[in-house]
Amino acid sequence: MSKKIAIVTGGGSGIGLAITEKFIAAGIETIIIGRDENKLKEAKEILGDMCHPMSCDISHLSTIPPLIENIVKQFGQIDILVNNAGINMKKDFTEVTDEEFQSVITTNLSSVFAVSREVAKQMLAAGSGSIINISSMAAQYGLPRVIAYSASKTAIDGMTRAMAVELSPKGIRVNAIAPGFIETAMTAKALNTDPERKAKVFGRTPMGFMGQPADIGDAALFLATDASKYITGVVLPVDGGNSIGF
Ligand code: NAI
Repeated sequence: MSKKIAIVTGGGSGIGLAITEKFIAAGIETIIIGRDENKLKEAKEILGDMCHPMSCDISHLSTIPPLIENIVKQFGQIDILVNNAGINMKKDFTEVTDEEFQSVITTNLSSVFAVSREVAKQMLAAGSGSIINISSMAAQYGLPRVIAYSASKTAIDGMTRAMAVELSPKGIRVNAIAPGFIETAMTAKALNTDPERKAKVFGRTPMGFMGQPADIGDAALFLATDASKYITGVVLPVDGGNSIGF
Protein backbone atom coordinates (compact mmCIF):
# COMPACT_ATOMS: atom_id res chain seq x y z
CA MET A 1 0.00 0.00 0.00
CA SER A 2 1.37 3.47 -0.85
CA LYS A 3 1.85 5.91 2.01
CA LYS A 4 -1.44 7.28 3.36
CA ILE A 5 -1.97 10.42 5.41
CA ALA A 6 -4.97 10.90 7.71
CA ILE A 7 -6.31 13.72 9.84
CA VAL A 8 -8.31 12.89 12.97
CA THR A 9 -9.85 15.87 14.75
CA GLY A 10 -10.03 15.44 18.52
CA GLY A 11 -7.50 12.64 18.09
CA GLY A 12 -5.91 13.20 21.50
CA SER A 13 -8.51 11.36 23.57
CA GLY A 14 -11.42 8.91 23.67
CA ILE A 15 -12.76 7.70 20.34
CA GLY A 16 -10.39 9.91 18.31
CA LEU A 17 -7.37 8.42 20.05
CA ALA A 18 -8.65 4.88 19.42
CA ILE A 19 -9.17 5.68 15.72
CA THR A 20 -5.63 7.08 15.55
CA GLU A 21 -4.23 3.93 17.20
CA LYS A 22 -5.93 1.72 14.59
CA PHE A 23 -4.74 3.92 11.71
CA ILE A 24 -1.14 3.92 12.92
CA ALA A 25 -1.18 0.16 13.47
CA ALA A 26 -2.28 -0.12 9.81
CA GLY A 27 0.66 2.05 8.69
CA ILE A 28 -1.31 5.28 8.13
CA GLU A 29 0.54 8.46 9.18
CA THR A 30 -1.97 10.35 11.30
CA ILE A 31 -2.22 14.04 12.15
CA ILE A 32 -4.22 14.63 15.32
CA ILE A 33 -5.83 18.02 15.75
CA GLY A 34 -6.92 19.12 19.21
CA ARG A 35 -7.11 22.08 21.51
CA ASP A 36 -5.49 20.53 24.57
CA GLU A 37 -1.68 20.57 24.15
CA ASN A 38 -1.11 18.16 27.04
CA LYS A 39 -3.50 15.55 25.67
CA LEU A 40 -1.83 15.81 22.26
CA LYS A 41 1.61 15.42 23.81
CA GLU A 42 0.54 12.34 25.77
CA ALA A 43 -0.96 10.79 22.62
CA LYS A 44 2.26 11.42 20.70
CA GLU A 45 4.23 9.72 23.50
CA ILE A 46 2.01 6.62 23.25
CA LEU A 47 1.81 6.50 19.46
CA GLY A 48 5.29 7.55 18.36
CA ASP A 49 6.67 8.83 15.06
CA MET A 50 3.61 8.11 12.90
CA CYS A 51 1.52 10.48 15.06
CA HIS A 52 1.69 14.21 14.30
CA PRO A 53 -0.07 16.50 16.80
CA MET A 54 -1.32 19.91 15.72
CA SER A 55 -2.83 22.28 18.20
CA CYS A 56 -5.94 24.15 17.05
CA ASP A 57 -9.36 25.06 18.43
CA ILE A 58 -11.52 24.20 15.44
CA SER A 59 -14.42 26.27 16.77
CA HIS A 60 -12.38 29.26 15.60
CA LEU A 61 -13.42 28.74 12.02
CA SER A 62 -11.06 31.29 10.49
CA THR A 63 -8.06 29.26 11.68
CA ILE A 64 -9.10 26.22 9.63
CA PRO A 65 -8.04 27.21 6.06
CA PRO A 66 -4.46 28.12 7.10
CA LEU A 67 -4.26 24.96 9.25
CA ILE A 68 -5.19 22.67 6.35
CA GLU A 69 -2.94 24.60 3.97
CA ASN A 70 -0.09 24.11 6.41
CA ILE A 71 -0.77 20.35 6.66
CA VAL A 72 -0.82 19.97 2.86
CA LYS A 73 2.46 21.89 2.61
CA GLN A 74 4.06 19.71 5.25
CA PHE A 75 2.68 16.29 4.26
CA GLY A 76 1.90 16.76 0.56
CA GLN A 77 -1.52 15.07 0.61
CA ILE A 78 -4.50 14.17 2.78
CA ASP A 79 -6.08 10.79 1.99
CA ILE A 80 -8.39 10.36 4.97
CA LEU A 81 -10.27 12.83 7.17
CA VAL A 82 -12.11 11.83 10.34
CA ASN A 83 -14.29 14.59 11.76
CA ASN A 84 -14.41 13.32 15.32
CA ALA A 85 -13.99 16.35 17.62
CA GLY A 86 -17.22 17.15 19.39
CA ILE A 87 -18.76 18.49 22.56
CA ASN A 88 -21.98 17.73 24.40
CA MET A 89 -24.14 19.81 26.70
CA LYS A 90 -26.87 18.33 28.88
CA LYS A 91 -29.50 20.82 29.98
CA ASP A 92 -33.29 21.22 29.94
CA PHE A 93 -34.50 22.48 26.57
CA THR A 94 -35.86 25.77 27.93
CA GLU A 95 -32.68 26.54 29.91
CA VAL A 96 -30.34 26.49 26.90
CA THR A 97 -29.22 29.97 25.86
CA ASP A 98 -28.66 31.04 22.25
CA GLU A 99 -24.93 31.29 22.97
CA GLU A 100 -24.78 27.74 24.37
CA PHE A 101 -26.78 26.36 21.45
CA GLN A 102 -24.53 28.15 18.96
CA SER A 103 -21.35 27.00 20.66
CA VAL A 104 -22.29 23.30 20.25
CA ILE A 105 -23.38 23.89 16.64
CA THR A 106 -20.10 25.69 15.84
CA THR A 107 -17.91 22.88 17.22
CA ASN A 108 -19.97 19.87 16.11
CA LEU A 109 -21.26 21.12 12.75
CA SER A 110 -19.77 24.35 11.34
CA SER A 111 -16.21 23.18 12.00
CA VAL A 112 -16.95 19.82 10.33
CA PHE A 113 -18.18 21.73 7.28
CA ALA A 114 -15.16 24.05 7.22
CA VAL A 115 -12.53 21.33 7.75
CA SER A 116 -14.20 19.07 5.15
CA ARG A 117 -14.44 21.90 2.61
CA GLU A 118 -10.73 22.69 2.90
CA VAL A 119 -9.66 19.03 2.85
CA ALA A 120 -12.04 18.21 -0.04
CA LYS A 121 -10.35 20.88 -2.20
CA GLN A 122 -7.11 18.98 -1.84
CA MET A 123 -8.76 15.55 -2.28
CA LEU A 124 -10.53 16.76 -5.43
CA ALA A 125 -7.18 17.75 -6.91
CA ALA A 126 -5.90 14.24 -6.14
CA GLY A 127 -9.13 12.57 -7.37
CA SER A 128 -9.47 10.37 -4.28
CA GLY A 129 -10.13 10.40 -0.55
CA SER A 130 -12.30 9.15 2.28
CA ILE A 131 -14.13 11.43 4.71
CA ILE A 132 -15.67 9.95 7.87
CA ASN A 133 -17.96 11.98 10.11
CA ILE A 134 -18.67 10.88 13.67
CA SER A 135 -22.41 11.13 14.29
CA SER A 136 -24.41 9.79 17.24
CA MET A 137 -27.48 7.89 18.41
CA ALA A 138 -28.86 11.37 19.07
CA ALA A 139 -29.46 11.52 15.31
CA GLN A 140 -31.24 8.14 15.23
CA TYR A 141 -33.91 8.80 17.88
CA GLY A 142 -35.03 11.54 20.26
CA LEU A 143 -32.90 12.02 23.37
CA PRO A 144 -34.08 14.47 26.03
CA ARG A 145 -31.90 17.30 27.40
CA VAL A 146 -29.36 17.39 24.55
CA ILE A 147 -31.08 19.71 22.11
CA ALA A 148 -28.05 21.37 20.51
CA TYR A 149 -26.10 18.11 20.34
CA SER A 150 -29.07 16.32 18.70
CA ALA A 151 -29.50 19.13 16.17
CA SER A 152 -25.80 19.10 15.33
CA LYS A 153 -25.52 15.32 14.89
CA THR A 154 -28.73 15.06 12.85
CA ALA A 155 -27.32 17.74 10.55
CA ILE A 156 -24.10 15.70 10.29
CA ASP A 157 -26.09 12.78 8.83
CA GLY A 158 -27.70 15.08 6.24
CA MET A 159 -24.39 16.70 5.41
CA THR A 160 -22.78 13.25 5.00
CA ARG A 161 -25.36 12.34 2.35
CA ALA A 162 -25.14 15.71 0.60
CA MET A 163 -21.34 15.57 0.52
CA ALA A 164 -21.42 11.97 -0.70
CA VAL A 165 -23.60 12.70 -3.74
CA GLU A 166 -21.52 15.72 -4.70
CA LEU A 167 -18.03 14.31 -4.05
CA SER A 168 -18.33 10.57 -4.81
CA PRO A 169 -18.45 11.04 -8.62
CA LYS A 170 -15.06 12.71 -8.20
CA GLY A 171 -13.48 9.86 -6.24
CA ILE A 172 -14.14 10.97 -2.66
CA ARG A 173 -16.24 8.67 -0.47
CA VAL A 174 -18.09 10.25 2.46
CA ASN A 175 -19.59 8.17 5.28
CA ALA A 176 -20.55 8.54 8.91
CA ILE A 177 -20.30 6.32 11.97
CA ALA A 178 -23.04 6.53 14.58
CA PRO A 179 -21.47 5.24 17.80
CA GLY A 180 -23.83 3.82 20.36
CA PHE A 181 -22.86 4.18 24.00
CA ILE A 182 -19.08 3.93 24.12
CA GLU A 183 -16.99 4.03 27.30
CA THR A 184 -15.25 7.45 27.23
CA ALA A 185 -14.99 10.52 29.45
CA MET A 186 -17.96 12.02 27.58
CA THR A 187 -20.33 9.14 28.42
CA ALA A 188 -19.00 8.80 31.97
CA LYS A 189 -20.02 12.43 32.52
CA ALA A 190 -23.41 11.95 30.86
CA LEU A 191 -24.39 8.62 32.44
CA ASN A 192 -22.71 8.27 35.83
CA THR A 193 -24.69 11.16 37.25
CA ASP A 194 -27.95 9.91 35.73
CA PRO A 195 -28.74 6.28 36.76
CA GLU A 196 -32.15 6.40 35.06
CA ARG A 197 -30.57 7.25 31.72
CA LYS A 198 -27.91 4.58 32.22
CA ALA A 199 -30.59 1.92 32.89
CA LYS A 200 -32.40 3.00 29.74
CA VAL A 201 -29.23 2.71 27.66
CA PHE A 202 -28.65 -0.88 28.76
CA GLY A 203 -32.36 -1.71 28.55
CA ARG A 204 -32.39 -1.07 24.81
CA THR A 205 -28.94 -2.35 23.86
CA PRO A 206 -29.45 -6.00 22.76
CA MET A 207 -25.76 -6.86 23.24
CA GLY A 208 -26.10 -5.72 26.86
CA PHE A 209 -22.83 -3.85 27.35
CA MET A 210 -21.18 -0.59 26.32
CA GLY A 211 -18.80 -0.40 23.38
CA GLN A 212 -15.11 0.41 23.54
CA PRO A 213 -13.45 3.27 21.63
CA ALA A 214 -11.49 0.62 19.69
CA ASP A 215 -14.79 -0.66 18.22
CA ILE A 216 -15.22 2.72 16.54
CA GLY A 217 -11.54 2.60 15.54
CA ASP A 218 -12.14 -0.67 13.67
CA ALA A 219 -15.15 0.78 11.83
CA ALA A 220 -13.22 3.94 10.92
CA LEU A 221 -10.32 1.90 9.54
CA PHE A 222 -12.78 -0.12 7.43
CA LEU A 223 -14.38 3.06 6.02
CA ALA A 224 -10.96 4.68 5.46
CA THR A 225 -9.52 1.91 3.32
CA ASP A 226 -10.29 0.01 0.12
CA ALA A 227 -12.09 -2.67 2.15
CA SER A 228 -15.09 -0.29 1.83
CA LYS A 229 -14.34 0.99 -1.69
CA TYR A 230 -17.96 0.64 -2.91
CA ILE A 231 -19.51 2.24 0.19
CA THR A 232 -20.47 5.91 0.28
CA GLY A 233 -23.19 8.01 1.90
CA VAL A 234 -23.97 5.57 4.71
CA VAL A 235 -24.39 6.22 8.42
CA LEU A 236 -23.05 3.05 10.04
CA PRO A 237 -24.30 2.35 13.56
CA VAL A 238 -21.65 0.75 15.78
CA ASP A 239 -23.87 0.36 18.79
CA GLY A 240 -24.42 -3.23 19.98
CA GLY A 241 -27.89 -2.96 18.42
CA ASN A 242 -28.90 0.12 20.43
CA SER A 243 -30.50 1.84 17.43
CA ILE A 244 -32.79 -1.13 16.72
CA GLY A 245 -33.35 -2.15 20.35
CA PHE A 246 -36.83 -2.24 21.89
P1 NAI B 1 -13.96 13.16 24.16
O1 NAI B 1 -14.44 14.34 24.91
O2 NAI B 1 -13.11 12.15 24.84
O3 NAI B 1 -13.20 13.59 22.83
C1 NAI B 1 -13.54 14.71 22.07
C2 NAI B 1 -12.26 15.30 21.56
O4 NAI B 1 -12.58 16.44 20.75
C3 NAI B 1 -11.35 15.80 22.70
O5 NAI B 1 -10.01 15.40 22.43
C4 NAI B 1 -11.50 17.31 22.63
O6 NAI B 1 -10.36 17.99 23.08
C5 NAI B 1 -11.72 17.50 21.13
N1 NAI B 1 -12.37 18.79 20.86
C6 NAI B 1 -13.56 19.22 21.33
N2 NAI B 1 -13.79 20.47 20.91
C7 NAI B 1 -12.72 20.83 20.15
C8 NAI B 1 -12.35 22.00 19.46
N3 NAI B 1 -13.12 23.08 19.46
N4 NAI B 1 -11.18 22.04 18.80
C9 NAI B 1 -10.35 20.96 18.79
N5 NAI B 1 -10.65 19.81 19.43
C10 NAI B 1 -11.82 19.75 20.11
O7 NAI B 1 -15.29 12.48 23.57
P2 NAI B 1 -15.54 11.13 22.78
O8 NAI B 1 -16.54 10.37 23.53
O9 NAI B 1 -14.28 10.48 22.39
O10 NAI B 1 -16.27 11.72 21.47
C11 NAI B 1 -15.71 11.77 20.18
C12 NAI B 1 -16.82 11.93 19.16
O11 NAI B 1 -17.70 10.83 19.22
C13 NAI B 1 -17.68 13.18 19.38
O12 NAI B 1 -18.01 13.75 18.13
C14 NAI B 1 -18.91 12.62 20.04
O13 NAI B 1 -20.03 13.42 19.82
C15 NAI B 1 -19.03 11.28 19.36
N6 NAI B 1 -19.81 10.30 20.09
C16 NAI B 1 -19.39 9.74 21.27
C17 NAI B 1 -20.15 8.78 21.88
C18 NAI B 1 -19.71 8.09 23.12
O14 NAI B 1 -20.43 7.19 23.57
N7 NAI B 1 -18.60 8.42 23.72
C19 NAI B 1 -21.45 8.37 21.36
C20 NAI B 1 -21.81 9.02 20.14
C21 NAI B 1 -21.00 9.94 19.55
